[in-house]
Amino acid sequence: MEKIKRSFYQQNLVAIGQITPMAIRVLFKETAAMEKLVLKKKPAISLRGRTVAELFYQPSTRTFTSFLAAAKWLGAMTIPLHGMATYSSAVKGESIEDTVRTVHQTTGADLLVIRHPEDDSAERAAQASWVPVINAGSGKKEHPTQALLDLYTIKKELGRTIKLKVGFVGDLKYGRTIKSLGKLLVLLDSKLELFLVSSPSLRMPRSLIGEWRQQGARIQETTSLKKVIPLLDVLYMTRVQKEWFKSHQEYQKVKGACVLTPKLMERAKKKMIVMHPLPRVDEIDPEVDKDRRAVYFRQMRSGLYIRMALLKLILLKQQR
Ligand code: NCD
Repeated sequence: MEKIKRSFYQQNLVAIGQITPMAIRVLFKETAAMEKLVLKKKPAISLRGRTVAELFYQPSTRTFTSFLAAAKWLGAMTIPLHGMATYSSAVKGESIEDTVRTVHQTTGADLLVIRHPEDDSAERAAQASWVPVINAGSGKKEHPTQALLDLYTIKKELGRTIKLKVGFVGDLKYGRTIKSLGKLLVLLDSKLELFLVSSPSLRMPRSLIGEWRQQGARIQETTSLKKVIPLLDVLYMTRVQKEWFKSHQEYQKVKGACVLTPKLMERAKKKMIVMHPLPRVDEIDPEVDKDRRAVYFRQMRSGLYIRMALLKLILLKQQR
């Protein structure tokens, strides 16, 4: 996929590897403007006459609603298609390629947002599509808009995106959010220290660790959150991804392996932040919600702002 150097106009966003530091600057500036607009309760009409379609083949609450709301805040028409795996012609065997072209033709959509269980789904969709495609989560591999909203949250909460000590905890094998976020942090932070905390069976793929080390990240793998929590600036918790396990037994074996409790939080720095893409199951004790350092509910609000900015930058040519 093409790199996004500065302009997002008419580009696909399929993989976080397309993003450059300059593109992030452009995006975050627009995101801050979108934030103001929402906080002032002043919906815009910049995307009036445009249509955004969402094609979701997997469950979603945050990503689906925030893309939908993002389009509406900017005055676009929306075609929200949840339950594609059950109700669309995919059930009859239609390919992703034919479906994306179909939805464009039947709705007049100017942009497609897709979530799908296959790793290469968004790339295939983008290649076939006649209009830009945004990846809203593909298989076990990528979730670029989540990584961008995560980075925006880190910047907002800690005031920086460099010299970070970050812990990724939970399901590092099947989870897609930490893979995209890891790539983004490695790109931006030459002093990044990454602590990968998981059960031995849920470790981050070797290939990614190798790539990140080659790019200068210092990486440690461990099974003990207790040991590393005092070092961290960012603690990024994730859900064990039940849907990818071959048997319920296997899932049961690892599911409660790493749980964040108020007691563990006592060991963390005062300025550390706890993030989670959500949904959570039992990896964060709800008691932790009261701690100021728990930012996961603020984090998801960044998703609305980032997605508004992306829709706007992709659909409208910027005046310079
Ligand atoms: C994540 C996803 O779908 O990958 N959810 C999200 O978009 N916030 C995380 C998950 O499902 O565990």
